[in-house]
Amino acid sequence: MKKIIAGNWKQNGKHKTSIQLVKNIITGTKKNKCKHEIIIFPPSIYLSSLQSIVNKSDVKIGAQNVSAFNDGAFTGEISSSMLKDTKIQYCLVGHSERRHVFNESPDMLFEKVIRLFENNIKVIYCIGETLEQFKNKKTKSILNAQVKKIFNKLKIKSTNIIIAYEPVWAIGTGLVPSDKDLIDAFKYIRNTINKFNPAYKSIKILYGGSVSPENANSLMKTPHMDGLLIGGASLNAKKFIDICSTI
Ligand code: PGA
Repeated sequence: MKKIIAGNWKQNGKHKTSIQLVKNIITGTKKNKCKHEIIIFPPSIYLSSLQSIVNKSDVKIGAQNVSAFNDGAFTGEISSSMLKDTKIQYCLVGHSERRHVFNESPDMLFEKVIRLFENNIKVIYCIGETLEQFKNKKTKSILNAQVKKIFNKLKIKSTNIIIAYEPVWAIGTGLVPSDKDLIDAFKYIRNTINKFNPAYKSIKILYGGSVSPENANSLMKTPHMDGLLIGGASLNAKKFIDICSTI
């Protein structure tokens, strides 16, 4: 099965460097015969320009964020219909920085998911516990609540959603969960989703948090892990191409 390797550039890069980075990723992954699906999430101001560059390649472009509202008087926001108009096929929802730095509530994230589905944009729905929750052994109950928020009320086509498990404490810290904790978390997420509908077995689950060329291969041996969501290492063409080529 094809894995997904996603690169979240966050609020980094300039127009020129972003174009060069995406071009390097297209050439490098092609040269190394990368067999996985690659999705890059640049800052929104560069979406349409990068979308025109990846056009004929196997690399796809996604948005890091979307408005919870349809078009209208919402200064500073970008709607899902605008993403569709720009031919963007993927969008992140629920990334830890949106939840914890921008205080986006579960209800707001739910609205974003609906707006994206209305416009046929696939959702990468991020879930994960904070360090305190991890220490207090709350990981499973947090994951359960975050998954349920979306799956309880919505009938979802399996190909329209991807789950990304990103422990908040592993993002940008150099820390990754132990093998045992990862195995437990992935098994738990898989079972929780499957209970909603047997068809959900095919929904992909990614891991994110301090992924590097050094740990990507061993992380990917975790059962039920279908790919990676990479932050810091996706800003470096060589590191990102190495990860895409080694798993
Ligand atoms: P990181 O970020 O790879 O820099 O830890 C991951 C993410 O935020 O998606």
